[in-house]
Amino acid sequence: MDLEFAVNGERFKIDSVDPSTTLLEFLRLNTPFKSVKLGCGEGGCGACLVVLSRYDPELDQVKECSINSCLTLLCSVNGCSITTSEGLGNTKKGFHPIHKRFAGFHASQCGFCTPGMCISLYSALANADNNRSKEFTVSEAEKSVSGNLCRCTGYRPIVDACKSFATDVDIEDLGFNSFWKKGESKEVMLKNLPPYNPKDHLVTFPEFLKKKKKEIKNLDNGLDHSRYRWTTPFSVTELHNIMDAANSGDSLKFVVGNTGTGYYKDEERFDRYIDISHIPEMSMIKKDEKGIEIGAAVTISNAIDALEVESKSSYIFKKMAAHMERIGNRSIRNSGSIGGNLVMAQSRKFPSDITTLLLAVDASVYMLNGRKTEKVTLQEFLELSPILDSKRVLLKVEIPSWTAPSGDDTELLFESYRAAPCSIGNALPYLNAAFLAIVSRQEPSRKGVTVDKCLLAFGSYGGDHSIRAIEVENFLTGKLLSYSVLYEAVGLLRGIIVPGKDTSHSEYRKSLAVGFLFDFFGPLIENGHRNSHVDTAKSLPVLSSSQQVLESNEFQPVGEAIIKVGAALQASGEAVFVDDIPTLPDCLHGAFIYSTEPLAKIKSISFRENVTPTGVFAVLTFKDIPQQGQNIGSKTLLGPGPLFADELTRCAGQRIALVVADTQKHADRAAKLAVVQYDTTNLEQPILTVEDAVKRSSFFEVHPMFYPEPVGDVVKGMEEAGRKIISAELRLGSQYFFYMEPQTALALPDEDNCVKVFSSSQAPEYVHSVIATCLGIQEHNVRVITRRVGGGFGGKAVKSMPVATACALGAYKLQRPVKMYLNRKTDMIMAGGRHPMKITYNVGFRSDGKLTALELTMLIDAGLEPDVSPIMPRNIMGPLRKYDWGALSFDVKVCKTNCPSRTAMRAPGEVQGSYIAESIIENVASSLQMDVDVVRKINLHTYDSLRKFYKHISGDPDEYTLPLLWEKLEISSKFKERVEMVKEFNLSNVWRKRGISRVPIVHQVMQRPTPGKVSILSDGSVVVEVGGIEIGQGLWTKVQQMVAYGLSMVKCKGSEKLLERIRVVQSDTLGMIQGGFTAGSTTSESSCEAVRLCCVILVERLKSTMDQMMMEKPSSVTWNMLIQQAYAQYINLSASTLYMPEYSTMEYLNYGVGVSEASHYGKSFILKNLNQSNNNVILLAGGSGPFDRKNRDFKIRYHLRLRKKS
Ligand SMILES: Cc1cc2nc3c(=O)[nH]c(=O)nc-3n(C[C@H](O)[C@H](O)[C@H](O)COP(=O)(O)OP(=O)(O)OC[C@H]3O[C@@H](n4cnc5c(N)ncnc54)[C@H](O)[C@@H]3O)c2cc1C
Ligand code: FES
Ligand code: FES
Repeated sequence: MDLEFAVNGERFKIDSVDPSTTLLEFLRLNTPFKSVKLGCGEGGCGACLVVLSRYDPELDQVKECSINSCLTLLCSVNGCSITTSEGLGNTKKGFHPIHKRFAGFHASQCGFCTPGMCISLYSALANADNNRSKEFTVSEAEKSVSGNLCRCTGYRPIVDACKSFATDVDIEDLGFNSFWKKGESKEVMLKNLPPYNPKDHLVTFPEFLKKKKKEIKNLDNGLDHSRYRWTTPFSVTELHNIMDAANSGDSLKFVVGNTGTGYYKDEERFDRYIDISHIPEMSMIKKDEKGIEIGAAVTISNAIDALEVESKSSYIFKKMAAHMERIGNRSIRNSGSIGGNLVMAQSRKFPSDITTLLLAVDASVYMLNGRKTEKVTLQEFLELSPILDSKRVLLKVEIPSWTAPSGDDTELLFESYRAAPCSIGNALPYLNAAFLAIVSRQEPSRKGVTVDKCLLAFGSYGGDHSIRAIEVENFLTGKLLSYSVLYEAVGLLRGIIVPGKDTSHSEYRKSLAVGFLFDFFGPLIENGHRNSHVDTAKSLPVLSSSQQVLESNEFQPVGEAIIKVGAALQASGEAVFVDDIPTLPDCLHGAFIYSTEPLAKIKSISFRENVTPTGVFAVLTFKDIPQQGQNIGSKTLLGPGPLFADELTRCAGQRIALVVADTQKHADRAAKLAVVQYDTTNLEQPILTVEDAVKRSSFFEVHPMFYPEPVGDVVKGMEEAGRKIISAELRLGSQYFFYMEPQTALALPDEDNCVKVFSSSQAPEYVHSVIATCLGIQEHNVRVITRRVGGGFGGKAVKSMPVATACALGAYKLQRPVKMYLNRKTDMIMAGGRHPMKITYNVGFRSDGKLTALELTMLIDAGLEPDVSPIMPRNIMGPLRKYDWGALSFDVKVCKTNCPSRTAMRAPGEVQGSYIAESIIENVASSLQMDVDVVRKINLHTYDSLRKFYKHISGDPDEYTLPLLWEKLEISSKFKERVEMVKEFNLSNVWRKRGISRVPIVHQVMQRPTPGKVSILSDGSVVVEVGGIEIGQGLWTKVQQMVAYGLSMVKCKGSEKLLERIRVVQSDTLGMIQGGFTAGSTTSESSCEAVRLCCVILVERLKSTMDQMMMEKPSSVTWNMLIQQAYAQYINLSASTLYMPEYSTMEYLNYGVGVSEASHYGKSFILKNLNQSNNNVILLAGGSGPFDRKNRDFKIRYHLRLRKKS
């Protein structure tokens, strides 16, 4: 039988496919549906989500759930219906209310994550509709997108869009949006929301598949074995036979969800794939007196449902279900199986939550070993040697029922714990634990508690697998609980929880184990009982928000809260990113082979076993750069960087070669199979730290322009100081961008030595110039086009250049289109990211907290190439000067090391500068035992000190608003009350603490020259080009608003309603030159000014025609009539300009204050000084994203990556 399924109602029938093909590969390469995006390929980001619908002919029921198409194998969707975001609605058939609400709540910035978000929400809504007992509540709405990453918006607007569908939502709690205005009644608000009715808006299962399914039994997966290496047994006997028939050397893969490949990136290709999800014994759930049996192929979601409704042992099972809700994310749980998890834990040391839970309830498993079925305890299973291989199959898990022994004095207790970087799932735990205990109270006081029995399981701490702490269990059993007993138990536990050698945060993990044990037994000692646990994560809303926005009509439509251009398109997934551009059949695909050595000669490049991998077309190195060209892959005003390493590689991660193959999959595989031989003889040791760089005087030169001057006399300041902190040290690490769309480019060879390149870049002008220099052709032979970028955050400025240049080299050399979509691992390795640095400082201050002098030494690790690193001293010193240090001196070295070159990462240097300043202030406050807020306030600049520190960019005295903002936010955030509440909380809570702080910011804004072009077409519609790139920040929308405002000055009928008639188009480096970089938070502003100037020119050119027409037909001249007349008169209706900021306004200061309260949940208030924004909602969304992001950067410095250690 052929593979047959539906995508968005359309039938797909396939007669042969490589069984390792994922659903995502198929959708993106073989269908027009491009809303499924490849973000991570690991099940961790949700960009690839689709809805999977399965029809059960016996029950005549359709079951729907969201799944990760990047992990799901195509063959496993046989007979199913797939819905992508464009299947919910699109431009042609009309957008779905989900799309409309995402757009209206400003929940889509770059839009790369948005289709996946919409699918998550849709799936949750469909689930609620199918499951009558479940309402779609606010809490469900929040959880619905918990498995989706968004790197732009900061989640607030996304959650608002989701909550707007909840049955219990208080509509007034929803954030700023374009559906209603502040102060409107609830009725109006509700009426204005795009209506949602499950009957009309839920997708139906295609009839043809239903019919087929009824006709053919087991259509689910009965694929023809002769054409597919995919087999679907329908009984254990069939499974036997298949395994018996397999040749002894055949590699077999048992498949349920295939989610394991999200963690283990197997290169292995299997001879046979056995889909075990249709064997009744393996997909059943059976409950009886003795307990519950769960087939190994049952999905985690189904297991949770079963545990939730189980009545016997319900207390324990419900707790297990609640814990399992935090495994991965909903889509992983929808396809990942219990058995798959256990087998990964057994055979590959996977840090499983499920094994820990099951150990604590003394579960057993059944295995198929040859023809025999064996039952072993889970503990025995985990310790099996040899490990489980493809000759043995896990059949089911048996969880016994636990009930408390009768009598008032005994009690059955169960609790599970999980500490992870993210509390609501989607991150592996640092440690998990589950404890079961039977305890009895001592008569007559019934105060003392004795442990009659206990099972204490710990996992994910860096051991081989989850374990029971048997020694501790034995020690505690029979003991009357007391603190001294517990301390002894802790001593034993410390000897058991021993993380492996390379485990991260090992001390933290060990302390967690102790903390959990204390949390479990502690209350029994203190109170004689455990409080029934209140799950705070459940009862508190995860995100809530409110904003105050002032709108002004003065420059309409500038300042209006209009919906972001293309937001609904982004939500439906129709917005075209580079990888969505349809490719020609002869298109080749590239992948980088990169160095794994920091400094070595490259002796040779070959492939494993000297066999050229399938599909490889060419391997290009620096030797393939045309003779007239140069080995250049990037450039900034501060210097170039090479495309490839030459004979010598100078950092791990440096590009050595480009392997070009027929598909991206083949190119990636070939790059993995590449073998590079290195030679390090006679080479110096690489410079890997800033200390090495200092020893070897390896520094980049910094132009005085980027090296601010010291302020005042530090020696004198130090003398004036009553107190000093000397030689304090701070170290800051790096950070990866995690733009959702990885680096990507497509290059097409053109006639007469030309090349056209589509690049996801924040700096197409530079991409253009680098390509021309690399190929040794004139710049007019190159054209670079960028429509939109799926998240940049600075990472797509310099780092996009080598990707586009390598594609252009391939296309130029091979005369075939070449495309490259970096896989996440390569992207992360090459990205460089934020600059790590070491700071040493001396600070002088008086006993009242007033600072007198600061001396800083700063070593910045810039990596191998200059990139933008030489500007870092300027960027760091900008925000660092936000306080009046009295006097300030510094010695900043930009170190050249053999590490990947660091680049501009969202507010490069500024984040660090602010962090350094705050750390010093906190240190001063702590050494004086003063309230840090008081120290901050004392040291805020006066206007005089501001001028001393910032010189001419300080502006006029009335423009220095920071002290005012400081006071205003104190009132609006109820800061003082909050501080008291935090203090009170901390006094009355031993284990949990809260913190609150108010922080000022001074941002040094610098505008750059930016071009713009506005053209009026013959029908009156307007097309606009700007230098700035739409990277999600809403630049197009603001430009559109500005053009509408600019042209409205014509003052004829219709000129005031031009917004809808204006289209901003992609950047084309031949159509508009000198585009520059889109960076530094000023490109929207300067692009707007550029187009405003164009409008002034056009209005002037139209003036005489307008005057003439007005004289002839006063009051009836329309925009269209005017333009027709101007066309007839050959008036030039295209104006372009290069906006040059004036020296006096080019640089200025901007101020803000933030208050953040932190505990297990957080609350933040931000007040920012703005004159008037072009679009406040875009500004809000654009502000909360970075705020959230930087917050995380410092809160979760070491985010646990769900990646195999390799
Ligand atoms: C993003 C992400 C987050 C995750 N987070 C967590 C988490 O927080 N906590 C946690 O515990 N887990 C987590 N997991 C792991 C997840 O639970 C497992 O990937 C899933 O349960 C595996 O089931 P599967 O059906 O997809 O297995 P598959 O991927 O289909 O199979 C995995 C392996 O097991 C073998 N196998 C499968 N079933 C059997 C069987 N019955 N008998 C013998 N061999 C078999 C397969 O051959 C394969 O080698 C996460 C996974 C991902 C991708
Ligand atoms: S989850 Fe599939 S691409 Fe990230
Ligand atoms: S809008 Fe979510 S990643 Fe950009």
